[in-house]
Amino acid sequence: MPVKNRLAELLPEIVEWRRDLHANPEIRFDTHRTAALVADRLRAFGCDEVTTGIGQTGVVGVIRGKQNSSGRVVGLRADMDALPIHEATGLAHASTVPGAMHACGHDGHTAMLLGAAKYLAETRNFDGTVVVIFQPDEEGGGGAIAMCEDGVMERWGVQEVYGMHNMPGLPVGSFAIRPGPILAAVDSFEIVVTGRGGHGAIPHQAVDTTLAASQVVTALQSVVSRNVDPLKNAVLSVCSFRTDTDAFNVIPDSVVLKGTVRTLDADVRDLVEARLAGVATATAQAFGAEAGVTYRRMVAPSVNAEENTEFAASVAEAVAGSVVRDMPPMMAGEDFAFMLEKRPGAYIMVGNGDSAMVHHPAYDFNDDAIPAGCSWFAELVERRMPAA
Ligand code: NI
Repeated sequence: MPVKNRLAELLPEIVEWRRDLHANPEIRFDTHRTAALVADRLRAFGCDEVTTGIGQTGVVGVIRGKQNSSGRVVGLRADMDALPIHEATGLAHASTVPGAMHACGHDGHTAMLLGAAKYLAETRNFDGTVVVIFQPDEEGGGGAIAMCEDGVMERWGVQEVYGMHNMPGLPVGSFAIRPGPILAAVDSFEIVVTGRGGHGAIPHQAVDTTLAASQVVTALQSVVSRNVDPLKNAVLSVCSFRTDTDAFNVIPDSVVLKGTVRTLDADVRDLVEARLAGVATATAQAFGAEAGVTYRRMVAPSVNAEENTEFAASVAEAVAGSVVRDMPPMMAGEDFAFMLEKRPGAYIMVGNGDSAMVHHPAYDFNDDAIPAGCSWFAELVERRMPAA
């Protein structure tokens, strides 16, 4: 693929950063080493401002163009956190931290945005301001919102914001995007089914919570198939079923069900939340038990703004020679959604080639995607805010 490589001479250095980050993964908000390293680099590049501690361990860098008559401020965001997974790649740069691993490629995202920042700070061939945003805790869903609550958009006057994620299965260095919802809302639920425990041989004196909870699991699958408009999308998965006993002859007092709901539209989200509670409660009652439902909205859907998406796609096309403009949305979630709620922008996928899936112990970010990813960030800035 003919990638327009804006940063060819920086590539070995960026790969080195990426592999160092990979070997030293940090989880959730505990991205102390990573944040310090990012801040040191940004200072070394000559960024006009570098601020740490935004959203606990987030880092913000400011690069002013050689002109600033446009008054435009473009935000570029990368995530820095790893996952609580034990790495199984056996690579030379594999994780040195047992039980922690960059299994989602955020090491690559951070390295690519650093590479673009170095290039932009050196060249400054744009009319306006770039704000580079490095966030912690994407995987826990708390980092973007924490940075927004610390005023990352207002404090640096960010007007539009862009993010990128690698995608296994997409040819390396190619791009895919879509306008509108690109990733789903992430909600969690917990249903506590309570009855009356008892002897497994004397069920008529008990209220069988195991049976009631099993019926709840089954009945919940009618919500997506029977209540949601068949032309719209939703996922409802019960992922945990836990009784309060592991004895073979005891009917438990209670069963706890946990699961997740993924939706793309606000109306579908409301509908699934309401039906989930209604179905769980009534089904448990039908078996003489009770269901207490806790529903938590964790992450909003990631919605790409129309104009910004077309712009981001045209930049990707310039970099990679072609771009998929109508990729199907995915039912995974991404807390960049909170930044996209605050400001218009777009989120794009860059191909990771034929690799293991993200969140798998055999996954590794593909360094061959770096030229395309870095160039997309850099090209985006120069095209959005062209210098005279
Ligand atoms: Ni990720």
